[in-house]
Amino acid sequence: MNEAEKSKMLVGKEAAKYVKDGMKVGLGSGSTAYWMVKSLGERVQEGLSIVGVPTSAQTEKWAQEFGVPTTNLSEVSALDITIDGADEVDQNLQLIKGGGGALLREKMVAIAAKKLLIIVDQSKVVDHLGSYPLPLEVTPFGWELTAKRIAALGQEPIIRLNGKEYYLTDNGNYILDCKFGKITQPEKLHEQLIQIVGVVETGLFINMTDTVIVGNQGEISVLEKK
Ligand code: A5P
Repeated sequence: MNEAEKSKMLVGKEAAKYVKDGMKVGLGSGSTAYWMVKSLGERVQEGLSIVGVPTSAQTEKWAQEFGVPTTNLSEVSALDITIDGADEVDQNLQLIKGGGGALLREKMVAIAAKKLLIIVDQSKVVDHLGSYPLPLEVTPFGWELTAKRIAALGQEPIIRLNGKEYYLTDNGNYILDCKFGKITQPEKLHEQLIQIVGVVETGLFINMTDTVIVGNQGEISVLEKK
């Protein structure tokens, strides 16, 4: 296992400790969230009673595999905590997410929770968002036109592929990856993008994160909302 993977495992296990008996838990997506779901599964086997709301079909499969009981967002009015990975975290705990294509469900599950806990390895912590291409979920209908409107903001988006096919999200939509470069005003950019008809959601998670657990070379540090 390489260093990054070790850090993901470390923060995934650490995050599982934030979950207490009786909690309703949003289960994030991606390779870091995998370790959190696995650790929760171990705690469930030891007697922890929780219910999870998965943010993707893949996470649902992991929850089943590790024995974490699940329900869906429509069945619960509020979640106690959501734990998820991120592609980038800036100094104000603003995020880029959606590298795995699950951004819409992730955002819906994040805002349903009293607390959003993000788990990352050190490579994801940045001064400014934007090195990582920003994912946008868009409707397949008329996506080329949507892409042109996005391009008018400065950068030509790239349609995400799955082999030779267009990548499809769990919601049946496409993903456009946008290299905006250094994003100095993430909130403003989100507002501009979300107003474009055909954009279903952006991967900018603004003012949502309460706590970030960062793993680096076997050590953990915790960033809290100011
Ligand atoms: C999924 O769509 C993403 O938002 C993930 O949370 C993000 O890409 C982090 O994934 P990794 O933990 O695999 O890096």
